[in-house]
Amino acid sequence: MNTNIAQTLSAGQSTFSVDTIRADFPILQQEVHGKQLVYLDNAATTQKPLSVITTLDDYYRHYNSNIHRGVHSLSEKATAAYEASRKKTKDFINAASTKEIIFVRGTTEAINLVAQSYGRSTLKPGDEIIISEMEHHSNIVPWQLLCEQTSAVLRIIPINDDGELIMEEYRKLLNEKTKIVAIVHISNALGTINPVKKIIDMAHAVNAVVLVDGAQAVAHTGVDVQALECDFYVFSGHKLFGPTGTGVLYGKQELLERMPPYQGGGDMIKMVTLKKTLFNDLPYKFEAGTPHIAGVIGLGAAIDYVTKTGLANISAWETALIQYATAESAKINGLRPIGTAKEKISILSFTLDKIHPHDIGTILDHEGIAIRTGHHCAMPVMEHFHVPATARASFAFYNTHAEVDRLLQGLKKCLEIFG
Ligand code: ALA
Repeated sequence: MNTNIAQTLSAGQSTFSVDTIRADFPILQQEVHGKQLVYLDNAATTQKPLSVITTLDDYYRHYNSNIHRGVHSLSEKATAAYEASRKKTKDFINAASTKEIIFVRGTTEAINLVAQSYGRSTLKPGDEIIISEMEHHSNIVPWQLLCEQTSAVLRIIPINDDGELIMEEYRKLLNEKTKIVAIVHISNALGTINPVKKIIDMAHAVNAVVLVDGAQAVAHTGVDVQALECDFYVFSGHKLFGPTGTGVLYGKQELLERMPPYQGGGDMIKMVTLKKTLFNDLPYKFEAGTPHIAGVIGLGAAIDYVTKTGLANISAWETALIQYATAESAKINGLRPIGTAKEKISILSFTLDKIHPHDIGTILDHEGIAIRTGHHCAMPVMEHFHVPATARASFAFYNTHAEVDRLLQGLKKCLEIFG
């Protein structure tokens, strides 16, 4: 597709217009350092449509109150809105029941919950947990902690130089001691889309449970947890155009029923005496304390927005963007892409000549272009590619081909400045 002109596409029934979409995101309508903002740091966090912003405003302005506790009208309204978000989330990932949707602070908390509740209550010394070399730190450290606590052993699926999992090595790691496989759906540092269905099926063949880290996936591709048959699926609201401090743990009901609570406190109980506590039913057993009520309601609005836009449209648009960015950036002398998987989406990670990625980020910022530079909380990936850091442009459905051109011009300016 060409690209400076093509600003619309059709996928399925509906037409996608990037101009219409962009008008829904107030933050994009600003200048930074006197230049129109180009926001290409969507893997770190996504921007929020007006419908999400006004949902938060409406909650605080008109019905701010605690949930599951009051009989007064405001509390009933807040509870209904909070639970409506649970239903929207269930439908969004096609869970079997709202009991399987636990609201948490984000992906990190969801993984820690599974490690400390499911992992700690089931693992024995010598049991094995498999993760991969491309995991975000949030899908490494909780398992390392769990291994220290239980004397379980962490095993690692290596990646190849395109940033793809070496599936043959995964096959070799699986055995009767494997109890948990925790794997990223889409890599935040490389953009690689992993074959999660295959990974899950192979793990189930040895009776291991699988947690899928969907933090980078849910905003870009449809997720059907029943079709995947994953045991746990986790993601963050803020990477799905929703508020920060919100996230989702999906777990199969029969696993969640068996798991002990992660945190104790209000709302996760049925009855408390000073001798004994009866825990609440799912999903409340895992939602101790007052949650991010406004945030969860806002997450519901974000899911509405994504659903209305259509994940098929989003995916098609972003595929065109990343293909264009990949092809055009390859023409820049000295640009080394990090992450060239056959199946990838939305992320262009690279180094440029001998210029430190932080310098690239600073120069681009002065051009009004926001990217992320650093190790992207995936230091083992940096180690694999023998780089301390990369520059990373990450795209969302409100980005345009003209913005990719601005990025490329910015990179050429970096090369000019550093001679
Ligand atoms: N995990 C986020 C990123 O990739 C913060 O930038």
